[in-house]
Amino acid sequence: MTATSASAPVLEMARPSAERPLLALTNVSKRFGGVRALENVSFDVQRGHLLGIIGPNGSGKSTLLSLIAGAQRPSSGQIVCNGRRLDRMRSHAIRGSASGAPIRSRGRSAA
Ligand SMILES: Nc1ncnc2c1ncn2[C@@H]1O[C@H](COP(=O)(O)OP(=O)(O)OP(=O)(O)O)[C@@H](O)[C@H]1O
Ligand SMILES: [Mg+2]
Repeated sequence: MTATSASAPVLEMARPSAERPLLALTNVSKRFGGVRALENVSFDVQRGHLLGIIGPNGSGKSTLLSLIAGAQRPSSGQIVCNGRRLDRMRSHAIRGSASGAPIRSRGRSAA
């Protein structure tokens, strides 16, 4: 896989929530200047499943988790959690996405 598919997010969001993965990464890359920390990483995590990440020092484990948490944005690719594009959201808005809880704006409380 070399390029991000424009049709992928549409297909992802069209699936019923019971069938779509909780977390889906598609061709996620992250570069720091000339350093390629992640190159076209793709995987799904189904609801209720655990996924381990292993690799030698500098292989990109922390960078991967940082992207999923929203602390950094990918250079390319997409990250979808519960049907939401995390790679387009700010980190404070990502909280609650995995549980399906409503996303609250800063400074406002639910009625
Ligand atoms: N903020 C940054 N600026 C520049 N390069 C970075 C930055 N963060 C990570 N890198 C580089 O990206 C690559 C992946 O680093 P990362 O920290 O994600 O690896 P890691 O698998 O978590 O390593 P470790 O096992 O040592 O914790 C490394 O080459 C690292 O030097
Ligand atoms: Mg690390």
